[in-house]
Amino acid sequence: MSKEKTIYVCQACGGQTSKWQGQCPHCLAWNSLTETAAESGPARFRPLAATGGIQRLTEVQARETARLATGLAEFDRVLGGGMVEGGVVLLGGDPGIGKSTLLLQALAAMSARHKTLYVSGEESADQVALRARRLGLTDADIPLLTEIRLEAILATLTAERPQIAVIDSIQTLYTEQLQSAPGSVAQVRECAQSLTRHAKASGTALVLVGHVTKEGALAGPRVLEHIVDTVLYFEGDTASSFRLIRAFKNRFGAVNELGVFAMTDRGLKGVANPSALFLARDTREVPGSCVVVAQEGTRPLLVEIQALVDSAASPNPRRLTVGLDPNRLAMLLAVLHRHGGIACYDQDVFVNAVGGVRINEPAADLAVLLAVVSSFRNKPLPHKLAAFGEVGLGGEVRPVQRGQERLKEAAKLGFSQVLAPRANLPRQIPANMSVQGVGTLAEALAYLRDL
Ligand code: TYD
Ligand code: MG
Repeated sequence: MSKEKTIYVCQACGGQTSKWQGQCPHCLAWNSLTETAAESGPARFRPLAATGGIQRLTEVQARETARLATGLAEFDRVLGGGMVEGGVVLLGGDPGIGKSTLLLQALAAMSARHKTLYVSGEESADQVALRARRLGLTDADIPLLTEIRLEAILATLTAERPQIAVIDSIQTLYTEQLQSAPGSVAQVRECAQSLTRHAKASGTALVLVGHVTKEGALAGPRVLEHIVDTVLYFEGDTASSFRLIRAFKNRFGAVNELGVFAMTDRGLKGVANPSALFLARDTREVPGSCVVVAQEGTRPLLVEIQALVDSAASPNPRRLTVGLDPNRLAMLLAVLHRHGGIACYDQDVFVNAVGGVRINEPAADLAVLLAVVSSFRNKPLPHKLAAFGEVGLGGEVRPVQRGQERLKEAAKLGFSQVLAPRANLPRQIPANMSVQGVGTLAEALAYLRDL
């Protein structure tokens, strides 16, 4: 009797191996291979759109893509101005963060002008209706389909031809062509591919909800990222009411644009001026705190960075960050030792960006170092001081983008002292503000000493 053939599929990247291994040879993730029955899937390589002959780029009549505004200004901002005809958006995020709430609100606002469809594979019609009532969307007329079979969903999409459809969520769908369980990499990929093909052919704008965290704890986020046009992630601390939507990939707009919402008892409300959200409300001067003027997409954002430096109890001191890159911190501590003469090799260092926000830009370097030094010396920085600037391996403080706008925003929020890269100094300093330009880390430390 021949043994049934099985293969091993990586749950992170979808790569396959014929034998079990501890590490996926494709994406190097550990313990991600699971046994699956080998299946001869359908032909995967059908082109997304019908191809003609070769054209010249200059002769292509590129249409300006029509945007469908979602009615939520912050959502439109991350999308790059609204949904795009035939565009496919993946909205990822932890369970319970507010994906269904956001999309129901958006569909309700759009249903007045566009033909919509909400496909729920997760919740019953009752549950969706209850949520709509809770959100006060009683007069919005949203067509609802509760279905998890891909073939049935595609048939409905073809028959109804909605301009915008939401699939909540992609992990619950399955296609009859594959035997594996819903949520497995093969199913998620096949369903997403079929839906994307349909969107491109029909012009329906699609939003796929994915229960995926940025770490990719659940099936196939990386697989999906390649298929769709736009990848958005919902972030934020479920303990606080603020929710951020960040664009990681956008074929129709800028990436790293940030949409800011507050979760209220009547759904998500956009926050149009988020720049002061991530400042701790404490007005005392405490050691280890420094405000950075960060820039998220097109908006400046002031974020308090907190550091705690404490003598290490073990020979391997800990470097822990929340909302910042731990490798960047390790590098900055080395620069601090080598070019600032402050040694932290026998100290535990913890750094936190207040409010659950993630800061990816190197412009936070200077503020991180100031917070660390302030905690190390147990000496608070002035309450009205903010800083920004990238710190290089040579101990130099490098200029960052949009210096002028950062200074303006800091002035608007009442910061009277700013430490900034010298090369970022504008000709005109905002009124009521003193700006100290520094070219090296040593100069920044000297400035601290003179405070
Ligand atoms: P939900 O949108 O279902 O999250 P997801 O689809 O991402 O899993 O629910 C988000 C959470 O928000 C849920 O725990 C309840 C809460 N919530 C509010 O605080 N206010 C509201 O108006 C609604 C509808 C939900
Ligand atoms: Mg949901």
